[in-house]
Amino acid sequence: MSETNRDLLTVRGLHAGYGAVRVLRDIDLTVAANEVIVLLGANGAGKTTLMRALTNLIPWTGEVVFDGASTSRKRTEALTRRGIAHVPQGRGTFVELTVEENLRVGGLVTGSKEALEEGLERWFAVYPRLAERRRQLAGSLSGGEQQMLAIARALMSRPRLLLLDEPSLGLSPIITEELFEHLARLRADEDISMIIVEQTAELALAMADRAHILRSGELLPSRLASELNDAEVLREAYLGA
Ligand SMILES: Nc1ncnc2c1ncn2[C@@H]1O[C@H](COP(=O)(O)OP(=O)(O)O)[C@@H](O)[C@H]1O
Ligand SMILES: [Mg+2]
Repeated sequence: MSETNRDLLTVRGLHAGYGAVRVLRDIDLTVAANEVIVLLGANGAGKTTLMRALTNLIPWTGEVVFDGASTSRKRTEALTRRGIAHVPQGRGTFVELTVEENLRVGGLVTGSKEALEEGLERWFAVYPRLAERRRQLAGSLSGGEQQMLAIARALMSRPRLLLLDEPSLGLSPIITEELFEHLARLRADEDISMIIVEQTAELALAMADRAHILRSGELLPSRLASELNDAEVLREAYLGA
């Protein structure tokens, strides 16, 4: 997809790392409105680091423009309020809070009681399994339920860009399939863009528009997801062929 003014996110020449350790080098990336991008790459390639840079959890240099405005030096919470929601690797639900409390925390940035109640009603309707368990501690949910909770919590902030870091990690194949069916439906029903980090490429590619491979901190040019077959992607992403 070509670069247009309608790009929701534009990243130019981004560098990031941890102290003296440089991880990401000269990253260029665009995400259009309602576009789904899959980010593939081996362990340690820098996928999580990129998610953290985009949400200002770590410092970076370069240019990041979201919805027409620079994200530089904004607090993570301010970016959430502007529409970037992050489902971190390992989910990041509050295990000692109930399902409903987790969702309420997710909705706090809207700053509106009505938006919060409306969000609860809406997402409990979409996720009946969470509704049934609304007073249960998040830590007592199954892995799949926790992942759904993490996503629902992110949705409570009414994002336009959803960053999902290895959402299928630790889930069974059946639950993973369910998860991607859900993400595909979400994308169809909502005006939302996504960057999905995945190691198991096949299901993610099936619902994505474009895919990028991140290799040792460098982002290779994107390609249409439909043009990539799993074996080819895996070879390129993980073996560097
Ligand atoms: N908190 C940290 N401090 C120092 N180095 C880190 C930290 N987190 C990750 N790294 C390093 O950054 C590189 C990229 O890690 P990461 O972004 O987690 O990769 P991926 O998500 O693709 O597996 C790795 O070499 C990793 O060891
Ligand atoms: Mg990671």
